[in-house]
Amino acid sequence: MEIWDCYHKAQNYVCKIASLEDLNRKWDYEIAQNPGDGNWPIWKEEAVENFKKGVSIPYYGILNGTIICEATAVTDPQYVQNSEGMMREGAVYLCAFRTNDEFQEQGYFSKLKDFMLEDLRKRGFTKAILGVAVSDDWHQKMYEHWGFTDYLKTGEETYPDGTIIDVEYYSKKLIQGESYTDILDQILHENGIVEKMRQEIIRRSDLFEEQTKGTKDEYNLYREHVQYVYKYAVMLSKDAAVDKEIVELSALLHDISMTDPSLDRSKHNEYGSAMAEQLLREQHYPEEKLQLVVKCILNHSSKRAQYRTTPEEELLECADGLAHFDAYKSLYSLAHKVMGLDDEQSLKFIQDKLTKDYAEIREDLKYLVRDVYARVMEAKTIREILG
Ligand SMILES: [Fe+2]
Repeated sequence: MEIWDCYHKAQNYVCKIASLEDLNRKWDYEIAQNPGDGNWPIWKEEAVENFKKGVSIPYYGILNGTIICEATAVTDPQYVQNSEGMMREGAVYLCAFRTNDEFQEQGYFSKLKDFMLEDLRKRGFTKAILGVAVSDDWHQKMYEHWGFTDYLKTGEETYPDGTIIDVEYYSKKLIQGESYTDILDQILHENGIVEKMRQEIIRRSDLFEEQTKGTKDEYNLYREHVQYVYKYAVMLSKDAAVDKEIVELSALLHDISMTDPSLDRSKHNEYGSAMAEQLLREQHYPEEKLQLVVKCILNHSSKRAQYRTTPEEELLECADGLAHFDAYKSLYSLAHKVMGLDDEQSLKFIQDKLTKDYAEIREDLKYLVRDVYARVMEAKTIREILG
């Protein structure tokens, strides 16, 4: 643990996503701090409305029960000034960065920023955008230091009281690795069917998570599994002789039947292939390619390995195996909540599972997950790997 972490854990500093109650409390504080400034009550109204509509995520840093800093992520371009041309799919806009005066320049906001970017990355956002006043050199330097280095454009922002300021917008990629991000961007923006299916699996995963909230089955298939399979599928198809679209659609849809709790999980490949077939047919996807996606999904389960005949099927299998190494933290929920294991047993369960998965990874791909595997194997306590 870093010194900062030790110190601030002792200080009882936590970062969290705000509730509506937190939101009201913080905005009333800001209004009280800025008496006579008519912007603040209007900003409060907008913030509460956006939160209720689900188009914003407010992040708060709380020290000993007091909100001392905040930042907001706006997920819908309609609610962002000057969003035209800069907020494409996968982008999120960051704003309302504030730290109470007495807590500035002590690292609190930086921790909140890291917490927020990590959360947004896990939600599947690929790019974060922020705006900074043209005249504000100090913040420009700071944001540059944080990695917001891609200049997008300059625009005018208008405050509720009519004040106009010139703002420059910068972005930062939330997924590491140039090539993968670039390819992903290209696919998401140019390829309608892939993006449609990605949205469909996200929607179904969110619905399932909502239905199972608070139960031992609570799970978000996209966030905890599919997005990683997709990541590896894109990565591996880059230099492979495969139909990339078939690989990507198969990666996104291969476990789709898991979002329907009424279906038998042991036959998830059969149900999944039928569901994918129906979805793609509704989109008038070409029949020949549709059948290849269906075959990938049907044969991705290990009991049907002998029926795999195409490179796309092999690639999906590799991507599915690699993805386990990105999501080993959710294995803890399975061990702990579902199987009722204690922390020591859970660690052993995770280590055994990953040992088996690692053995099954193709030799030339093992380097992709070697570091994670080593870290999990070397852990003496579950806390070391849960972070
Ligand atoms: Fe899978």
